[in-house]
Amino acid sequence: MCGIAGYVGQRNAIEIVLDQIERLEYRGYDSTGVAFKSGDSLQIMKRAGKLAHLRAAVEEENPFSEVAIAHSRWATHGAPNDLNAHPHYDATGEVALIHNGIIENYLELKEELTRAGHVFQSETDSEVAAHIIGLEYAEGVPLEEAVRRAVGKFTGAYGFVVISMREPGKIVCARNASPLVVGFGKGENFIASDIPALLPYTRTVAVLDNEMVALVTTEGITAVSPDGRTVKLSPFDVDWDIESAEKGGYEHFMLKEIHEQDDVVRQCLAGRLGQENLTLDGLFGEHVWQDIDRVNIIACGTAYHAGLMGKTLFEKMLRLPTDVYFSSEFRYNDPLLSPKSLAVFVSQSGETADSLAALRLCKERRIRTLGIVNVVGSSIAREVDRVLYTQAGPEISVASTKAYLAQCLVLYLLGLHIAEIKEMPGVNVKAGLKAVREFPEYVKEALDLESSIQDVAKQFANSKLAFFLGRGADANVALEAALKLKEIAYIPTQECPAGEMKHGPLALIEQGTLSVVGATQEDVRDKLVSNIRELQARGSHVLAITTKDDELTPTVVDSCAMIAQTNDWYLNALLSIVPLQLFSYYMALERGCEIDQPRNLAKSVTVE
Ligand code: M6R
Repeated sequence: MCGIAGYVGQRNAIEIVLDQIERLEYRGYDSTGVAFKSGDSLQIMKRAGKLAHLRAAVEEENPFSEVAIAHSRWATHGAPNDLNAHPHYDATGEVALIHNGIIENYLELKEELTRAGHVFQSETDSEVAAHIIGLEYAEGVPLEEAVRRAVGKFTGAYGFVVISMREPGKIVCARNASPLVVGFGKGENFIASDIPALLPYTRTVAVLDNEMVALVTTEGITAVSPDGRTVKLSPFDVDWDIESAEKGGYEHFMLKEIHEQDDVVRQCLAGRLGQENLTLDGLFGEHVWQDIDRVNIIACGTAYHAGLMGKTLFEKMLRLPTDVYFSSEFRYNDPLLSPKSLAVFVSQSGETADSLAALRLCKERRIRTLGIVNVVGSSIAREVDRVLYTQAGPEISVASTKAYLAQCLVLYLLGLHIAEIKEMPGVNVKAGLKAVREFPEYVKEALDLESSIQDVAKQFANSKLAFFLGRGADANVALEAALKLKEIAYIPTQECPAGEMKHGPLALIEQGTLSVVGATQEDVRDKLVSNIRELQARGSHVLAITTKDDELTPTVVDSCAMIAQTNDWYLNALLSIVPLQLFSYYMALERGCEIDQPRNLAKSVTVE
């Protein structure tokens, strides 16, 4: 996600941390900032926009400091502006903090602090964390002890780096879920959120484990566990070149992003799940949801496919009529929109020109609008009435993977939210929350299918055509899986609900044609198995993705990948995209395609 850098040594720390941040620029960001010792105080400089803006401001003052921390922010909470940029001071200005992640209980903490007279400059959860650390530090304990005590009060994800004026030779860092890596030098030491930021300075690094608090000084780096026991770091030498380090050691961003998905789910859920209920901040009030009679989901490409999942969910779970439109068609078809309807715009970039144009049409027609968007402060996010961020972090590969998972998950949360408000009799919101809480582990488990999926991909990499089929929610996932294969492996695909095959597409099946079939939907499994037999009778090789409790499909098909049974039909179907993404990736790899930058395609389509 956001980039973190820190340095303590004899050189000008400010130059070093800005250079480190520059090495993380490829991941995208919307503001930058730096904190350093300046005379008798800590100085913070921060700017919205490109790093060049911050550099220009720093160069004007030409400061020198032997300790500094810097940040490049990719906003998840609060607009990308100077105030919300990091670092943040505590209440006294003695401590400066950078934070990656989301503190889930920050509103509670903020309320307490506000009652005690604290004033905040930004809208961020991070500034609240800075104030809490500052309060502990005011007790007179060392900085590392103040941070250790403070993190016990936070729930959620964090990667912190903190410096103080009282102990200017120290950088203290702590992590839970958000990655932090320390780098070992001679008489100088480093900290960063990612290895590429360290490589020009040192190749000896150690990854901090969850819940560790580490102290970085010129003399060395030590770490303690949450209960204050010293823990041993395990340094290793990195032999990756810079390019593979940027990809976290993966060969492509796409593979890195597929593998990030269990964390993406955690990030997406962060701050939204209570024990019994959901908190979707900033949505419409209850009376609006009671009034909405129809949903129109409008999107392109992968986001459109997420929209189809939304339709199936809203109609099946909420009995709420839902239409899904391609943004590129929407304006030209004079859409029939109920004045009481809600238009939902799903977009990773928030800049897709067709979706933006459709949004403006809905606004002209005075229809309520909601965005499900990944990039904070993007055009769609700014122009809709309400926005739910997917919180998936920057997606660099042109082929969307983690954004799709997060979009579908946000639609699911939205469905539960509406069910809660409308007190839908047949919907067990508590069971939904439980299933979603367990989902990151299921995603992780699905990623373990990688090597078996790679074997199937090797076998079918020369396919001239591939079918993607399913029934119910699996038919939606089939469309997305097919798009992935087309996009990056350049293999023509035929995708449709499995029951439609005999109405035409079956004519294309020949001996050895690959059919990839989603079989996660228990209620239509018998029907699906009949469709599978029809395919096999014409010589098709069938690869099925199904849940572990399915005793029927694996006995019928030629190859099978088994994912967890989540006890929720929607989440089962959604989970099946993970092995399917891996399948496209390995097909493309076998064929020697340019995976992250497929021919003729751009990451953000800002022309109509
Ligand atoms: O940024 P958006 O989500 O609005 O982009 C929509 C599509 O352009 C995008 O999903 C595209 O289909 C991807 N290349 C799919 O992998």
